Amino acid sequence: MKGKHIVLGISGGIAAYKAAYLLRLLIKRGAEVQVVITPNGKEFITPATLAALSGKPVVSEFFAANTGEWHSHVDLGIWADLMVVAPATASTIGKMANGIADNMLITTYLSAKEQVMVAPAMDLDMWRHPSTQRNIATLRRDGVIIVEPASGELASGLTGKGRMEEPERIAEAIERYFNNVESLKGRRVVVTAGPTYENIDPVRFIGNYSSGKMGFAIAEEFASRGADVTLVAGPVSLNLENESVRRINVTSAREMHTATLEAAADADCVVLAAAVADYAPERSEERKIKREGVEEMTLRLVRNPDIAASLGKEKGDRLLVGFALETDHELDNAHKKLEKKNLDMIVLNSLRDPEAGFMKDTNRISIISRDGEVKEYPAKSKREVAADIVDAVTARLVR
Ligand code: CTP
Repeated sequence: MKGKHIVLGISGGIAAYKAAYLLRLLIKRGAEVQVVITPNGKEFITPATLAALSGKPVVSEFFAANTGEWHSHVDLGIWADLMVVAPATASTIGKMANGIADNMLITTYLSAKEQVMVAPAMDLDMWRHPSTQRNIATLRRDGVIIVEPASGELASGLTGKGRMEEPERIAEAIERYFNNVESLKGRRVVVTAGPTYENIDPVRFIGNYSSGKMGFAIAEEFASRGADVTLVAGPVSLNLENESVRRINVTSAREMHTATLEAAADADCVVLAAAVADYAPERSEERKIKREGVEEMTLRLVRNPDIAASLGKEKGDRLLVGFALETDHELDNAHKKLEKKNLDMIVLNSLRDPEAGFMKDTNRISIISRDGEVKEYPAKSKREVAADIVDAVTARLVR
């Protein structure tokens, strides 16, 4: 981040003292930092400390009291390469989401042309509150990067999620942002996500527990790095935050097969994160099956096309990334799958792992490459896992 201009917004929470550590880390790594603090923020940390660490007077009021000099939030927006709000209280997040510009930090945010990143800090009940979650979702939709709060002991004495992420982790997120921005510009990526539903009759289907969260997070992560992304999504109730992603909704494996092959025709990379049903009923009844007089029933199933294998057959120089969800002989089975489907990489989750798999918000993965290299990662949120997967793809795609 050498030479980068960062606006550090500080709002009024106990975690404001940690902003001083963050500021020091950013300066140490060569960034130029301008602090903007809310009136409440000054109750928790003094502008004198922040000015000394940043080497710049701290901006807090619209006008400097002694000289009447106007502090231009517009100029700050032009100067900055990134704005980071840490800590962001529930109130500041609410004001940002709703454009309530009653202090210098919010006017700076509203004038910001650069990327904005927010590190929330609050009590667990405030974090969980529907109002806060709504505002966070709004900020995400508006393109703001959220550095999720950590779980642990809170200032209130309670334990839970809401504690501002440690300064080192926020600095890492900033470093990652500067390294990654636009790194995949011009690259075309297709991602499959979610389950497929195979109809038995108009009201019944065979499906699976895939939530689609992992695939959606991967699509978002690619898009945030400037890639041109098509997401082929099975039936899930998820929304995309990044509006640049082209979403194609499908229901059955056959539909997913057709849509994916078509989208993949000119792609540089295809990530197969969907949990595709391997079999479908031989026929889907047009009318609802009635139970009257039927004591036993046999469903005849036929094989669905394998999307990954179809792509592997005509691979070209497209990078193919598959997923394997295994219960035993994990590494062995994953490697066999990679070979059989002619993939470049396979992401393994073990169903034995309580922090991995369907319906969870966290995942623990290993990435196995064609040459047999295995990289293991610790348990992380699905969004962080998505960043690891996209990092691995980027290393192959951009040489
Ligand atoms: N896959 C696919 N099309 C299918 C089935 C699977 O594209 N019809 C992809 C998945 O998206 C995943 C990978 O292939 O990336 C592995 O899927 P999996 O169902 O675990 O593999 P199978 O070969 O069906 O093996 P298993 O016997 O374990 O189900």
